[in-house]
Amino acid sequence: PRTGEGGDAQVIALTPAAERVPGMQSLRQRRRELQEHIAEGKLDAVRRQHSLGKLTARERLALLLDEDSFVELEPYRRHRSSGPGLAGNRPYTDGVVTGSGTVDGRRVFVYAQDFTLFGGSLGEAHAAKIHKILDLAIANGAPVIGLNDSGGARIQEGVLALNGYGGIFRRQVEASGVIPQISVILGPCAGGAAYSPALADFTFMVRDTARMYLTGPDVVEAVTGRRVSHEELGGADVHGTHSGVATVVHDDEEDCLADVRYLISLLPSNYLEPAPATARTGAADDYRPRLAEIVPPSPNQPYDMREVFAEVADDGEFFEVHAGWARNVLCALARIDGRVVGLVGNQPVVLAGVLDGPAAQKAARFVRFCDAFGIPLVSLVDVPGFLPGVEQERSGIIRQGAQLLHAYCEATVPRIQVILRKAYGGAYIVMDSRSIGCDLSLAWPTNEIAVMGAEGAVNVLYRRDLAAAADPAALRARLVAEYTEEYLNPQYSAERGLVDDIIDPADTRAAIARGLAMLQDKRKPGPSRKHGNLPI
Ligand code: HXC
Repeated sequence: PRTGEGGDAQVIALTPAAERVPGMQSLRQRRRELQEHIAEGKLDAVRRQHSLGKLTARERLALLLDEDSFVELEPYRRHRSSGPGLAGNRPYTDGVVTGSGTVDGRRVFVYAQDFTLFGGSLGEAHAAKIHKILDLAIANGAPVIGLNDSGGARIQEGVLALNGYGGIFRRQVEASGVIPQISVILGPCAGGAAYSPALADFTFMVRDTARMYLTGPDVVEAVTGRRVSHEELGGADVHGTHSGVATVVHDDEEDCLADVRYLISLLPSNYLEPAPATARTGAADDYRPRLAEIVPPSPNQPYDMREVFAEVADDGEFFEVHAGWARNVLCALARIDGRVVGLVGNQPVVLAGVLDGPAAQKAARFVRFCDAFGIPLVSLVDVPGFLPGVEQERSGIIRQGAQLLHAYCEATVPRIQVILRKAYGGAYIVMDSRSIGCDLSLAWPTNEIAVMGAEGAVNVLYRRDLAAAADPAALRARLVAEYTEEYLNPQYSAERGLVDDIIDPADTRAAIARGLAMLQDKRKPGPSRKHGNLPI
């Protein structure tokens, strides 16, 4: 039947497929049975999962994704292994639920390991399902989110399991800088499996249930003689505070998965797309007197840079990464005038905001993420320098500081530097100074940009004069005052073109918003080469 031009649409009644196609009814019945079988799972194992304070893979996906958006792939996949405990025990899904869904209407690809089947361990079929998800995510330019809860390589499947992990790692590296990768640890993640979250852009962990280590407590005791608990060895706080492996730590799974949704709302789907902007918020005219109140005029008094972040960000909201690790530097995604930006700031309440090795690495990784995904960088500078000390030198502060330097230097996204107070020495250069390529450098009238502070400089420059002086204290005071007047005056850098403008602190949010608008079309192709050699 056809609808003639201008004629009325004819409504035709189709014969139900079950009646037209012989056997269709029984196929549907069969499918229903299979689905019931999949949903059933192992009741005891599910109960145990809940008793451990953990949700099941499907419950987690229901929290993560928009309602009814999940499209499952390969629910009937199962292993072909005949190892101990596996022969005749071939549950559907093979212990990982994979597919695609949406978060606030935007497509994502997901996999959720199911601890109730073989402890979520990864065998050949399990790995192949994850490989497919990663391939699809790359091909479709959509973020991938992995929910990890697994005993690691399925021991009975031997090298095939290891091969499966290798395939995940290779794809993750291929996806690096192409699509955002998020790893959520909701149970064990042991052995080489821990390299998957380590390769992701963001790793979430939940306290008490998540644990990540290359070798578990038993092996640690056998090798070192020291008895440690799972939590002490690889719990969320260990990785959120000491190792920096966990980007974000939460108390429970619900909060954690809600936070993953928030993060997704700030990320572009892939490196070719812009991060999702909201409507302009009028930030370009926003005068914030509170900014001047947060920062004490005396350079030695601390304040919480988070308060500055909250004052410059739309709605005072930001997504902080590594909040518990390398706390002397802050990194966060936020919106300013609706545009997503990466905020980097020194944190004067921790170690006076000096840069040390971990802080440099934390900021470097964040800067590279923002650059890879086209997110403009705003650096809020108040830094007395790099942390001096034997430990720092031995642990490679030169190498780690170079990582941050490299990350900023190669970043081609719009880059705005705001100097609030101190900006000394190498740390001034590294914190996105004009010399390493920031597009717009703004400074508060309280800025102090110099090779070093007045006391230190006078000691070096006038050591002999001070030693010979009749009244060294008086001479020192005069020299310090002269140095301060000459080198630490707030116009010094602006007169030399190293600062574009000296702004009213209350105008900071507005000046950043105007800068972002000015730089929104920035394009800067990198040099032709295979890739740089980041000093990792
Ligand atoms: C096969 C596994 C398994 C594994 C757990 N199971 N891990 N089966 N291979 N790797 C099974 C258990 O036999 C058990 O089966 C079920 O999953 C639940 O495990 P439990 O031990 O009862 O749970 P729990 O007490 O909570 O302990 C969880 C655990 C523990 C801490 C993860 O299972 C464990 O230590 N597993 C081994 C971890 C490990 O060493 N993996 C290899 C890491 S090396 P039943 O039938 O009893 O329910 C690795 C290499 C990767 O991953 C290399 C990549 C480069």
